[in-house]
Amino acid sequence: MKIGFIGGGHVAQVLAKLFIKEGHTVVLTNKHGLEKLKPVLERLGPQAQAGNLAEVARQDLIILAVPYKAVFEIDNQLLKGKDVVDATNYFPHRDGDIEKLREHQNATSELVAEHFEGAFIVKAFNSIPVADLAGLAAPEENVQKIALPLAGNDSRLKEKIADLIDQIGFVPYDVGNLADSRKMQSDTPVFLFIGNEKALGKKING
Ligand SMILES: NC(=O)c1ccc[n+]([C@@H]2O[C@H](COP(=O)([O-])OP(=O)(O)OC[C@H]3O[C@@H](n4cnc5c(N)ncnc54)[C@H](OP(=O)(O)O)[C@@H]3O)[C@@H](O)[C@H]2O)c1
Repeated sequence: MKIGFIGGGHVAQVLAKLFIKEGHTVVLTNKHGLEKLKPVLERLGPQAQAGNLAEVARQDLIILAVPYKAVFEIDNQLLKGKDVVDATNYFPHRDGDIEKLREHQNATSELVAEHFEGAFIVKAFNSIPVADLAGLAAPEENVQKIALPLAGNDSRLKEKIADLIDQIGFVPYDVGNLADSRKMQSDTPVFLFIGNEKALGKKING
């Protein structure tokens, strides 16, 4: 699959490495100039490229890996009809006070979906500390795998992301629809939690 990243920081780099290992290609973009991504591309190898937003948006799957507030700086028409993973987290101290999120009226990903109207959105890869992601991937069959939560309204896209999670060595855990993605946000016990399917289920369902 051709995977595009909006963002070329920690999350994008670690996920890109894991996806490349499974035979996918990646295109990364950033804010302060693609030149900055040169050493990243050298590390990732020939299956990785840098490109502008339009190039990233042409890939089969687009991962949002930017600070939450940056999502709303991106052209809201860019991802129409596209498959998108929201890997962002909202932190009021970093991203500012957002009225619609103050009382948990909305899941943070619902506002992302509202912004990119016409895109298919699944929330995933947000809750695990990125520093642990590569080390915890366990592609060997007999090793007990870590579960990663995902949530979204489109079952086709959820299957696609669940498959990707499985490919890189984790067990997908379906949290529910996009409104349910509240249960895996940065202000929940699921955030930064590392455990198998059963343990994650307990965290999510209380
Ligand atoms: N760190 C974690 O453990 C972790 C785990 C899961 C999810 N997350 C979430 O994932 C997101 C990314 O985290 P990170 O740790 O990868 O952050 P990061 O290392 O600071 O990287 C952020 C990237 O976003 C780019 N960016 C910012 N605004 C942009 C814009 N308008 N258009 C295009 N690119 C833009 C930055 O470009 P420049 O480099 O040019 O500034 C940078 O490459 C955050 O929402 C974070 O909360 C983090």
